Amino acid sequence: MRMQNKIGIVTAAGSGMGRAGAIRFAKEGASVAVVDLNADAAAEVVKEITAAGGTAMAISGDLTDDAFARNIVRDTVRAYGGLDFVWNHVGHPGPAAIEGLDWADYDLAMNLNVRTVMVTTVAALPEMRARGGGSLLYTASTSGLTGSQFSPVYNIAKFGIVGLVHGLSKRYAKEKIRVNAVCPGPVDTPMLRVFVARPDSQMPAGETAETLVQKRGGQVPMGRFARPEEVANAALFLLSDEASYITGVSLPVDGGATA
Ligand SMILES: NC(=O)c1ccc[n+]([C@@H]2O[C@H](COP(=O)([O-])OP(=O)(O)OC[C@H]3O[C@@H](n4cnc5c(N)ncnc54)[C@H](O)[C@@H]3O)[C@@H](O)[C@H]2O)c1
Repeated sequence: MRMQNKIGIVTAAGSGMGRAGAIRFAKEGASVAVVDLNADAAAEVVKEITAAGGTAMAISGDLTDDAFARNIVRDTVRAYGGLDFVWNHVGHPGPAAIEGLDWADYDLAMNLNVRTVMVTTVAALPEMRARGGGSLLYTASTSGLTGSQFSPVYNIAKFGIVGLVHGLSKRYAKEKIRVNAVCPGPVDTPMLRVFVARPDSQMPAGETAETLVQKRGGQVPMGRFARPEEVANAALFLLSDEASYITGVSLPVDGGATA
């Protein structure tokens, strides 16, 4: 098993890629804290993991709350005795508009994409140091590599995550804490619909979020979206010891979109 005896946290694990990752890591032997705002969704993921013989616990709360974002580390260490990995997966699309930008939405996007991720990271580092190493994984996006004309704030945030990966990876390499990111293109999750349905995301007349989503999938070189499990597979590799000499990488998982 590729994650035998590893202890870790996955944020936004009640749905989409985070859910797929939590299930996959547990199948590979990890004990997983499943963190999500949606308590029922987190509990369902834990139920699925434990029914399959895995180890997981749900921690539900709002990651915009600094205390909660910090305490998920404390609670995981208390329950399982340490911390080896964190997949900081939570994020938010933010506004599509520039003119008439909704600043409350700006703050929420910067909080969920950047601030909360930093709060959890700061709490996790001493725990990983105490274990003699660890693995931090972030979810950036292709919008953090090339930028999207429809997501100005999201671009700032996800380029920031890629920058964080560069800096932290060098800073903690000697302490055996590896730091990487996955950069998904469009993935078939609820968030994809949120992206295209935002006000000012320039939906052409006659289109709906669903028709536009399908068209966007066709624009990817592979001609389709990623399945959440395909991003979880990349996350598994980067978090596991198989990637022992890989740090500072922001890996596109995008069907060729940024090629
Ligand atoms: N779906 C895509 O096409 C896509 C592409 C690139 C990057 N991403 C990134 O992937 C991550 C999540 O995307 P997904 O598609 O797996 O999402 P999703 O829509 O499937 O799930 C998001 C989860 O986050 C939880 N959540 C929302 N706000 C929260 C909060 N304040 N505190 C705790 N949990 C909260 C929700 O309850 C939900 O379970 C984000 O970082 C996003 O930017 C998504």
